[in-house]
Amino acid sequence: MGNENRKIIAVVGATGAQGGGLVRAILEDPSGGFAVRAITRDVTSEKARTLATLGAEVVAADVDDADSLQRAFAGAYGAFCVTFFWDHFSPEKELAQAQAMARAAKQAGLSHVIWSTLEDTRQWVPLSDGRMPTLMGKYKVPHFDAKGEANRLFTDAGVPTTFLLTSFYWDNLIHFGMGPKKGPDGALLFTLPMADKKLPGIASEDIGRSAYGIFKAGTEYVGRTVGIAGEHLTGAQMADALGRALRRNVRHNAVTPEAYRGFGFPGADDLGNMFQFNRDFEQDFCGARSIDVSRRLNPGLQTFDQWLERNKERIPLEA
Ligand SMILES: NC(=O)c1ccc[n+]([C@@H]2O[C@H](COP(=O)([O-])OP(=O)(O)OC[C@H]3O[C@@H](n4cnc5c(N)ncnc54)[C@H](OP(=O)(O)O)[C@@H]3O)[C@@H](O)[C@H]2O)c1
Repeated sequence: MGNENRKIIAVVGATGAQGGGLVRAILEDPSGGFAVRAITRDVTSEKARTLATLGAEVVAADVDDADSLQRAFAGAYGAFCVTFFWDHFSPEKELAQAQAMARAAKQAGLSHVIWSTLEDTRQWVPLSDGRMPTLMGKYKVPHFDAKGEANRLFTDAGVPTTFLLTSFYWDNLIHFGMGPKKGPDGALLFTLPMADKKLPGIASEDIGRSAYGIFKAGTEYVGRTVGIAGEHLTGAQMADALGRALRRNVRHNAVTPEAYRGFGFPGADDLGNMFQFNRDFEQDFCGARSIDVSRRLNPGLQTFDQWLERNKERIPLEA
């Protein structure tokens, strides 16, 4: 198919985890009918230039700059929209960025936007509920709540949107300090404060690849919420899989959410509340993330074992 006939998908976060998976999925399927416009703040960075070499159109925009977003979305068929909580730890900033993306999408007349979102946990645990502390004045899980609250910004703007509920990246074991750590007896301890409850997890690359499946399905998912995960696993199951892959003794360290909140690293309280929410509302949280649907959208969906086989050497162990 000639380039001129392809539907352009503008991808926010194109040099990152979620957006990067979508960019690669589109580029790997040249007859799929889509072309990709990769959005970056710096078109000269190595990651941006790599995407251009692979065949992406690469354009500069910043989600904090509404005009740049409008230019980046103009003429596109659709957009993948994501915010970057861990860059700034500000739910208000996420809300403002979501608002700017929704407005730009409306102005560009996009036919389909995928908004990478999460639950507003306050619908399950109101601020008055003392089971977990209220954080930053009006949130229970700040990096979830603002994304869920932002859903209505897309709906209110009249943007045809799919709300994509993502899952815990297994890549956090590499990049986010969540890998197993050496315990006092030399065994590796994998810390997850969820007792025997299951955590939906995913290879971050598979998020964008699932988003591609949603775009390819035409209007089927417009106006709908779609949850994705590679597997739902308990801490003990993840520890066992890690032990098999690493050929080491790995034990599940089932601390309480209270203990996790007290670990003291930036965001520990937010993540402690998140794991407590995941634990206490396991049925709702796992139920919203069907593995079957995820695999239908993305037939190459990785299991935790498959992800480990490809990535085990990248997990730092001695820290
Ligand atoms: N870690 C998890 O388990 C998990 C699970 C579910 C959801 N999430 C959510 O995922 C989100 C982050 O997505 P990600 O992991 O795909 O991010 P990421 O890998 O950190 O990538 C972010 C990319 O976005 C670009 N970017 C950053 N700030 C920007 C701005 N102001 N304007 C335009 N582009 C900007 C950067 O590209 P340039 O430098 O090239 O501009 C960067 O490469 C967070 O909000 C987090 O809450 C995380």
